[in-house]
Amino acid sequence: MATFQTLPGFREFYPEDLAGRSHIFRLWRQTASTFGFAEYDAPVLEPLELYKAKSGDEIEAQLFSFTDKGGREVALRPEMTPTVCRLVGARANALRRPIKWFSIGEFFRYERMQKGRGRCFCQFNADIFGEPGPEAEVELIALLIQCLRAFGLTEQDFYVRLSDRNLWFHYLGALGLDEPRIRAILTAVDRHEKHGDAAFAVYTEQFGPLDPGLKDRVMAFLSIRSLAALEQTLVGIADERLAARLADWRRLLRALEAMGLARYVEVDLGVVRGLAYYTGFVFEAFDRKGDLRALAGGGRYDDLVQKLGGPALPAVGFAIGDMTFALLLEQRGLMPKILQGPDVFCVIDGEAGRLAAFADIHALRAAGFRVEYPLRDSAFGKQFKAASESGARLALIYGGDEVARGVVKVRDLAQRAEVEVAKDQVALHVRDFLSAR
Ligand code: HAM
Repeated sequence: MATFQTLPGFREFYPEDLAGRSHIFRLWRQTASTFGFAEYDAPVLEPLELYKAKSGDEIEAQLFSFTDKGGREVALRPEMTPTVCRLVGARANALRRPIKWFSIGEFFRYERMQKGRGRCFCQFNADIFGEPGPEAEVELIALLIQCLRAFGLTEQDFYVRLSDRNLWFHYLGALGLDEPRIRAILTAVDRHEKHGDAAFAVYTEQFGPLDPGLKDRVMAFLSIRSLAALEQTLVGIADERLAARLADWRRLLRALEAMGLARYVEVDLGVVRGLAYYTGFVFEAFDRKGDLRALAGGGRYDDLVQKLGGPALPAVGFAIGDMTFALLLEQRGLMPKILQGPDVFCVIDGEAGRLAAFADIHALRAAGFRVEYPLRDSAFGKQFKAASESGARLALIYGGDEVARGVVKVRDLAQRAEVEVAKDQVALHVRDFLSAR
């Protein structure tokens, strides 16, 4: 018989694995809510057009796309950003600003598989619309850091690399480059960390040899690792836009410092991000050891809402992926084993015991307790074994003798201590017991 397997790069979640993922989602949701972000959702299947020429060549090449039965060109979403721009753009005038939204969902990219990268993965996306100044970046970088810290990760475990595509544009523009050349250089910078000098082929193939003086300046610029070094590099260039950018940098870094988050953030002009729509600050989170691919990435994309048919609306956002993040938590021993067992397990003798237990089981569940019982009759010993393996704190015992006397035996499974409780007092007793620890 043929055995069916998951497609390469797709994941199955057995309950113990899903418990870990649900725990991650729960803490991300909680954290976003403490920052005042509202949750939204959207379709996983979208018109192909939404991503064409908007997300960038790399993502376009990785799309899972097909023609549906109605002849529409469609794609499984590779990211949330174009979709959320459409949602916000369609109601931009009715929404109270700043618009702070988040979502958790599944995404699809036909990527080469490697550790921490799959073809189907989840992202937590958070975005702010309607705020042009670096205050939006402050809020988002703080949220990103808190989404990782909430799990017990510290500055020894991860950091955020902060850069600025706008600054790169102004700098290369001030050196006399036109926009197509600037874009080619930025693609080379994006690939430089992985491919070294070979990354500049994207430039030389289009525009011929790269002037050695220009290359030196690009290399020097991408090596910048502090605001002081940045200021030093720009000191001789009289350009108002560059001066305004530096003022934004100071505002952003000062605010993060005041929040006590400066130790998580490193200036790193080597980051420019591969996605085509970013227009300003960009940032990526990595593990400190450098073993893993990026944990998260984001930045400002002030033109995208309008490009997708909405009004002009400034925007910044980021996404954390669940795969590298789960690997990091496991590496650090921070992924809790939290498959939740019941609070109460019922041990039942015969039909009379079963009927007596049912009333209590239903009442306890309606009151919010997690209650399990054996679906079929079996020996007491077997039921007690199941009770202790279930992780329950209490066993409720409905033996023939107890049922006849209108009582239930309540056993504390950890202490192995038993008390008898009148049947109408069971719910009260369970509640008092569980809330006392
Ligand atoms: P991204 O850098 O393409 O940005 O993805 C963000 C994160 O999603 C990555 O850092 C990584 O953790 C995870 N990720 C991406 N691709 C894969 C994959 N194939 N397998 C596993 N994890 C993956 C974006 O998607 C932007 N739309 C983020 C954004 C939101 N920018 C503004 N708002």
